[in-house]
Amino acid sequence: MEDKKIILSGIQPTGTFTLGNYIGAVRNWTKMQEDYNCIYMIANMHAITVRQGPAALRNHTVEAYALLLACGIDPEKSVAFIQSHNPAHAEANWVLACSTQFGELSRMTQFKAKSEKHPDDINAGLFTYPVLMAGDILLYQSDLVPVGIDQKQHLELARDVAQRFNQKYGDTFKLPEAYITEVGAKIMSLQDPTSKMSKSDDNPNACIFILEDKDTIIRKFKRAVTDSETCVRFAEGKDGINNLMSIYSVVTGKSYDDIEREFEGRGYGDFKIAVGEAVADHLAPVRESFARLMANKDYLKECYTKGAETATRIAYKTLSKMYKKVGFVPSR
Ligand code: TYM
Repeated sequence: MEDKKIILSGIQPTGTFTLGNYIGAVRNWTKMQEDYNCIYMIANMHAITVRQGPAALRNHTVEAYALLLACGIDPEKSVAFIQSHNPAHAEANWVLACSTQFGELSRMTQFKAKSEKHPDDINAGLFTYPVLMAGDILLYQSDLVPVGIDQKQHLELARDVAQRFNQKYGDTFKLPEAYITEVGAKIMSLQDPTSKMSKSDDNPNACIFILEDKDTIIRKFKRAVTDSETCVRFAEGKDGINNLMSIYSVVTGKSYDDIEREFEGRGYGDFKIAVGEAVADHLAPVRESFARLMANKDYLKECYTKGAETATRIAYKTLSKMYKKVGFVPSR
């Protein structure tokens, strides 16, 4: 790979991507491909921390891979692979787990939230998930990790674990940094704009999935919860409107000032329809490209096989360094 900074990020294949995944993460990944060495991963090993049907997980994994390409990840420019195809992730996980404290994992807010959501399945994988994620990042000596705000705490943990390992065993890992954009790092639910847009929301109107058709997208935006004012402006306490403005700003490239001017004297109804239309138009090429890619599974397989080979080659350089540092005897 050329001598550029290294980017790594991942996404779980638990159904199609949401508008939050797209705006907070994947959209930025596509833009970074020119200036960085990018490595993107479908995190299927992370997905089984929550119960998944095997057939559904298999389908969702291939669909998520196709969606990555449909969103603009070019497998010729970036390394795009499926996590379980590279055994180094599971191996790094064990070694790093032995440099991670129980106490620091207990403080992870996502663990607490997911435990509350699935009280009948608080498995050890859910608890140690941030260690697996630290391995994902550290194995590639990543400089930057583009994520939404909800992953920031996991990233800080990855840095802490890397630092501790480096101190114990000598320099092994580069310390990664989160790359979080100012606008769009946390897209909110359309039904409760004080909480994150999430694919596991029980209310189907709360979340936009990026493969939904234009009518559905516009209908969901029309129903978006706002406030009792009528003026489109970005301000504290106007969570619903702020959320719609950030979405509109990202998909149209307009600033908040431009948007306030555009909708001056017009009600929320007009604004919501405009946001719905802009989002649907922005996503139309992704839908078309996804359909084309899903009709060509051989091509997808060729891409993820090649991606896994490259990812495995890079990751094993770090893994063998880790094994040597902790004192594992080489087999030959
Ligand atoms: P996941 O699959 O939950 O989400 C993928 C990416 O989408 C971002 N995101 C959002 N951004 C803005 N607004 C939202 N409402 C929103 N919802 C999700 C997430 O922040 C994330 O960047 N553990 C990770 C996957 C992972 C990973 C990694 C990421 C595995 N290994 C290594 C980075 C580096 C996860 O569950 O993301």
